[in-house]
Amino acid sequence: MSTRTLISGGLVVTASDELHADVLVEDGRVAALAAHGSAAAGAWTADRTIDATGKYVIPGGVDAHTHMELPFGGTSASDTFETGTRAAAWGGTTTIVDFAVQSVGRSLREGLDTWYAKADGNCAVDYAFHMILSDVNERTLKEMDHLVGEGVTSFKLFMAYPGVFYSDDGQILRAMQRGAANGGLIMMHAENGIAIDVLVEQALARGETDPRHHGEVRKVLLEAEATHRAIQLARVAGAPLYVVHVSAEEAVAELAAARDKGLPVFGETCPQYLFLSTDNLEEPDFQGAKYVCSTPLRPREHQAALWRGLRTNDLQVVSTDHCPFCFRGQKELGRGDFSKIPNGLPGVENRMDLLHQAVLDGHISRRRWIEIACATPARMFGLYPQKGTIAPGSDADIVLYDPHAEQVISAETHHMNVDYSAYEGRRITGRVDTVLSRGELVIDQREYTGRAGHGAFVPRSTCQYL
Ligand code: URP
Ligand code: ZN
Ligand code: ZN
Repeated sequence: MSTRTLISGGLVVTASDELHADVLVEDGRVAALAAHGSAAAGAWTADRTIDATGKYVIPGGVDAHTHMELPFGGTSASDTFETGTRAAAWGGTTTIVDFAVQSVGRSLREGLDTWYAKADGNCAVDYAFHMILSDVNERTLKEMDHLVGEGVTSFKLFMAYPGVFYSDDGQILRAMQRGAANGGLIMMHAENGIAIDVLVEQALARGETDPRHHGEVRKVLLEAEATHRAIQLARVAGAPLYVVHVSAEEAVAELAAARDKGLPVFGETCPQYLFLSTDNLEEPDFQGAKYVCSTPLRPREHQAALWRGLRTNDLQVVSTDHCPFCFRGQKELGRGDFSKIPNGLPGVENRMDLLHQAVLDGHISRRRWIEIACATPARMFGLYPQKGTIAPGSDADIVLYDPHAEQVISAETHHMNVDYSAYEGRRITGRVDTVLSRGELVIDQREYTGRAGHGAFVPRSTCQYL
């Protein structure tokens, strides 16, 4: 049976427009938009009307970088697909793109099937996958073609983590060449992991074991060098490149220089690099471990370059790199040796709110908020206009956002399955009120009405910027 929902009286904000418009949703998709109070909108009939007066009506967020249930650092990320996608919905994100992992010696197929099984039937909102390549060889290069064919169209490679996910330059070049041929987008973790491991060993030998040393050994220059090298390898391969979790001003400069040459090079940063800094890594009593991630948090001076990069489009996307580990029992694995602290921060629930605060703080415009958090990640990863906008034919992934509500971020009230918040005590103006995923209410006026299993796998086309 056909169901029609009318979202009435809100300010519809997309990456391109701000309109006082009513939105008609039919059978899980946006059917039409019309000016509020117009004859066209007045003629619509609906089974249900949602009053959006005083609220923004925005596309559901697209978080293109999450790690639910990732086995990493001797433990596993604490959010399952069930808890992580529920938290995403609470935070106004209605699509995640998670990283399936190929283990060394195993096929891409096996890794991807493991991720399908983890997510299937458990998600509150829609999901897609990238594939982490840990073992580039003739067989896995061929498998890349099959994955692109089934809608897994992007592949993460690591210049960091030797012995775990690391690929050497030859493997990276081969994967880029394959991506250039099959349309797959290479996503790069750009840090010189070989050099970093030398510095880790030397720091530990000097007795420098605290979390802050994680930031000190993972040097800005080693992010910048790897970013530069990745760009040159992509040029040689004739491939586009997307650099993940950019944190250093010098890395942004490498991306900007490449883009000034007209190269198809893209960059993502994350809220932790925009809002946190090495000051957090220095928190006493091992509390700094809560902020250990890679690339690491940088001195706060880098934040201005990241905001500038987002404004000038040298950086295009803000994703979370959501990879939560509880402080108790997980981050604590690294007491006495910072290199054993599992790398990663929680954030899938906080991204839309933090970026809305950035609008209020004057860092970005309201439409740029939607562009970097919804529309561009959707386009970058072949999901647009199904996801990332509110337009006739789009999935009705819609958030009613109250721009005046006040909230204080806290582990006491968040929905992520992790025992601390990286943003504990931070005051934010703006809050998600209601969330629809394909027309179904998942959050209804701050009450969870969703269900595990509503979220479906979304096959993606290739990057839409090429
Ligand atoms: O510290 C991080 N970023 N953990 C997740 C894995 C990765 O490199 O993205
Ligand atoms: Zn990474
Ligand atoms: Zn990541």
